Amino acid sequence: MTDTDARWSDLAAMPRQTLQDLFAADDDRVRRFSGTLAIPGGDILFDWSKTHLSDALVAGFEGLARDAGFDGAREVLLSGGIANPTEGRAAEHTAQRGIGADASVAEADVLHMRMRGLVEAIHEGMLGEVRHLIHIGIGGSALGPALAIDALARPTAEWRAPVDVHVVSNIDGNALEAAFEACDPAKTMIAVASKTFTTIETMTNAASAIQWLEESGVSDPYGRVVALTAAPDRAVEWGVDETRVLPFSESVGGRYSLWSSIGFPVAMALGWDGFAAMLEGAVAVDRHFADTDGFANLPLRAAFADLMYVQLRGCQTRATFAYDERLALFPDYLQQLEMESNGKSVTADGKPLHRPSAPITWGGTGTDAQHAVFQLLHQGTVEVPVDFIAVKAPGHDLDPEHHTILLTNCFAQGAALMAGKDSIDAARAYPGNRPSATILCEALTPATLGALIAFHEHRTFANAVLIEINPFDQFGVELGKQIANQIAAGAGAGFDPSTEALLAAAGLKD
Ligand code: F6P
Repeated sequence: MTDTDARWSDLAAMPRQTLQDLFAADDDRVRRFSGTLAIPGGDILFDWSKTHLSDALVAGFEGLARDAGFDGAREVLLSGGIANPTEGRAAEHTAQRGIGADASVAEADVLHMRMRGLVEAIHEGMLGEVRHLIHIGIGGSALGPALAIDALARPTAEWRAPVDVHVVSNIDGNALEAAFEACDPAKTMIAVASKTFTTIETMTNAASAIQWLEESGVSDPYGRVVALTAAPDRAVEWGVDETRVLPFSESVGGRYSLWSSIGFPVAMALGWDGFAAMLEGAVAVDRHFADTDGFANLPLRAAFADLMYVQLRGCQTRATFAYDERLALFPDYLQQLEMESNGKSVTADGKPLHRPSAPITWGGTGTDAQHAVFQLLHQGTVEVPVDFIAVKAPGHDLDPEHHTILLTNCFAQGAALMAGKDSIDAARAYPGNRPSATILCEALTPATLGALIAFHEHRTFANAVLIEINPFDQFGVELGKQIANQIAAGAGAGFDPSTEALLAAAGLKD
């Protein structure tokens, strides 16, 4: 039995206390299980008091973190060491924000200088009139920009983004066609965002965008393209002018790439200062993560709670509900971050993983979700740890009553999940003792969004270290792509009978 196995056995043997018991035993529980991150754009408060973490569990998880080599793994990550052993490379997203190997930080600075130059030149009209940007990318090359733009670039009575950005990811032509409908081709630029510059959805959409510009009478369609990629040679070969290629490092993972040139559309929508503020918010979390030990380290503490539910209480999912319309895409973003990072069944050194890996990440927007899926959270037979995210300052000018109702509903849900309610009628009884954590942002600013994302990146990393997996590869996405390529290349029979029949029914095969 290894040291970490022994830790897990000890953790599993600890008594299960109810939330009510935990609160009853400790008047100071709210303060002790809450924490605040000081972020330039507004503090973020985290409250884990309504989770089943106890002092004994925390001590056990701190021991596990020690035995799993958490401090060393964090040092490797933040200094540009080989944090991704299966691919033999570093995972340098924090270097994009200023924390990492000197050479990588310097390279990111140069990239950001070039990005800034291009963004400001476009905003100043040096490339002609640009009113629209169609950002074409998928997965990590799209979800971050889509989230940031939806959260931060909504038009108000006083402000409108200088360039309206349409993020298109799906190969389904309906997505790209909708963007074409919303844009004037004479005033549109295209960003092709692909780390590899080979992804079939992105390259097919990019070719169709070029064709649309051409057919709309734009004389130099490739001159309208900016490439955001770690494969600059491929972008140039494809037709993008070298001066419009913004290359980022191979060691920045796709789902961690918002901070690199993949953030170009965010800077186009918010202005450079807005993007820079996102980086500042993220680096504030990086510093906290780097300099704080044990339970006081908030992303690590979140991982303790996550692991308690998945490993000790058998929860197979975790839900995040954003009680703020501007964060509607946050659950989608988290899905890729957590499931693509930690949905693995081998350890970092290639052995079978003998415990659950990441739970299924799901969620939605409050209050809408209350009227749709919360029934199961309150009365279903499975335990689902829930994260609520709310923002103290509203993002609109309507009657403040809107925001009061929004926030009170958010807090009411956490209270109801925990308290439950007895009834002599079983159908009307609520078992209670159901966990939730709450994240309350002072305001939704570029810096707080950057911080929220960085917090979840480090939480994901901490989870991975404690179950000893590599969060930075994603081989699981390859097989489906290979089979699609085989089908596209007209590979003969040989698929299973169901797939053969479906291909025939859709007219894709005789
Ligand atoms: O298929 C998964 C994936 O490789 C993600 O990891 C990545 O973010 C996405 O596809 C897009 O890849 P690329 O940026 O190379 O086009």
